[in-house]
Amino acid sequence: MKDEVVKNLAAVFHREFGYKPGFTARAPGRVNLIGEHTDYNGCPVLPMALEQCFTAVFAPRPAGAGNGSRVSVVNTDSRFPGLTFIAENPVPPYETGSWGNYVKAGVQTILSYGAAAGKDCQAGCGFEAVITSSLPAAAGLSSSSALVVLSGLMAMASLGLSVPKDTLAKLFADGERYVGTQGGGMDQAVCMLSEAGKALKIEFNPFSAEPVNMPRGYSVVVMDSTVKAEKTRAAMDRYNIRTIECRLGTAVLKAAFSRRYGREVKLGLLGDMTSQNLGIPEEEIIPFAVDALSDSAYSLSGAAALLGTGTGRLAEEYCRRRDGSVLPEPPGGFKLMQRVLHVLTEWKRVEDSVSFLSAGDAAGFGVLMNGSHESCRRLFEISCPELDTLIALALEEGALGARLTGAGFGGCAVALVMDGDLPAFLSAVGRRYYGEYLKRTDGNVSRFLFICRPGRGAGTSVL
Ligand code: GLA
Repeated sequence: MKDEVVKNLAAVFHREFGYKPGFTARAPGRVNLIGEHTDYNGCPVLPMALEQCFTAVFAPRPAGAGNGSRVSVVNTDSRFPGLTFIAENPVPPYETGSWGNYVKAGVQTILSYGAAAGKDCQAGCGFEAVITSSLPAAAGLSSSSALVVLSGLMAMASLGLSVPKDTLAKLFADGERYVGTQGGGMDQAVCMLSEAGKALKIEFNPFSAEPVNMPRGYSVVVMDSTVKAEKTRAAMDRYNIRTIECRLGTAVLKAAFSRRYGREVKLGLLGDMTSQNLGIPEEEIIPFAVDALSDSAYSLSGAAALLGTGTGRLAEEYCRRRDGSVLPEPPGGFKLMQRVLHVLTEWKRVEDSVSFLSAGDAAGFGVLMNGSHESCRRLFEISCPELDTLIALALEEGALGARLTGAGFGGCAVALVMDGDLPAFLSAVGRRYYGEYLKRTDGNVSRFLFICRPGRGAGTSVL
C-alpha cells in the first residue's frame, strides 16, 4: 500500500463496495507562474503542477457483469454527494455547475477517443471509485481539471486502453469543454505532463511541453484570496467573454492586416502573430495591433459592420454557449484592443520568464510577474480588490513578484519569495491579509497560505 491517503481510501472503498480496489490514480492541481489567458489564444504558458492533488482508488466494473458501463464515484468530501451514471456515448451532462460533470467530462473524453479508435466501449468503461482531494475547490488551482483527468484516467484503465500522455493532455483539454467553459489546454497539459521539481513551459501553436528549472533558494507561495471563483454560469460567462473578445480581436486584426498589405494573412489565433507569419519585424507587431484596434469598446453590431457580416451571424458564430443559448453582449461592449494587448505582452513575458528562470535570475522573473498582474488587472480586467490587496501586501512583505493565477475573478495569487524570508513573509501576510483585512478570527491560515513545490504529473498504478 503506497501511503496513508491510499490506505484510508481503500478502507472506505471496501466499506462502500464490499471488495478491494485494484488500482490507484492521482491527478495534481496547478499554479500558473505566468501566462494568463494566453493558452486559448495559441500563446505559451508557464505553470507548475502542485503536490496537492486528487487521489483515487478504483476498480473497473467487470464487463458483462450486470452493467459494465456503470460509473460510481464516492467523494470523501461530503459537500460533493456520491454519483452513479451509465457511461454510454454520449453521456448526458448533469445540470450546469454540478461537480459530477467533471467526472462525466473525463469519462466522455475517453469514450469519444475509444469510439474514434474503433474500440467497443459500451462493453465496459465503467468503474467504482473513492476519491479525495488535498486541493482547495474553486480557488483557481485547477481542481476541476485535475478531476477531469483523474476520471478520464480511471475510465481509460478500465477500458484497458493505453494512450500517450501528450495525446491525453490534448484530449482532456478538448474534453473539459463538456462542462461549458471554452478553456485552453494549460491545466490538463500541466496535470498530465509535469516532472517533479520543475515548472513546465507549454506551447499550443503547435503543442509542445518543456520542463523549466526553478531558481534555487526561492519558493513559490500560493495565497488564496478566499473570493470563490465558482464554476457557475455567471463565472463561466465572464471567462467565455474574454475568449470571445480575443477571437473577435483576432478577426478584426486579420481584416486590418489584409487591408494594409493587400493580401490575405493567415491569422486564426493571436498566437499566429509572429514576425514570420505576418512578414513584418517583431517590434512592429504590438504597435500595429494597438493602432489597428480602437481603444473604445466595440458593440456586436460595430464589430459585425467592420467584418462585413450581420450582427446575428456574428453572435451565432462567436457567442453561442455550449447549451445552445447565446451569451448576451457585455454591457460595456467588447474591449478588443485591451484584451489583445494583454495577450501579446503576456506572451513576451512568458518567453522572457523562461530565459530568466533558466539563468537563475529570480529578481528578473519577479519583475515580470508584477508586470503580468498589472496587465491582468488593467487590460484584461480579471482581478478584484481582494486579490489586488493581497498582492500589494505580499510585495510590501518582501516577495520578489506576485500576481493572480488562473482564470481570475477571485481565487489565488502566487508569489516568489526568498527562502530565508519565508517565515517572516508567511506570518506577516497571514496577519495582515487574513487577520486585519479579511477579519478572520481563526488564526490558522495554512490552508489559504502555503508554500508549494513543483509536483509530478498524473498517472495510475496497480495497488
Ligand atoms: C483557466 C483555464 C485555462 C486558462 C486559465 C487562464 O484556468 O482552464 O485554460 O485559460 O484559466 O490562464
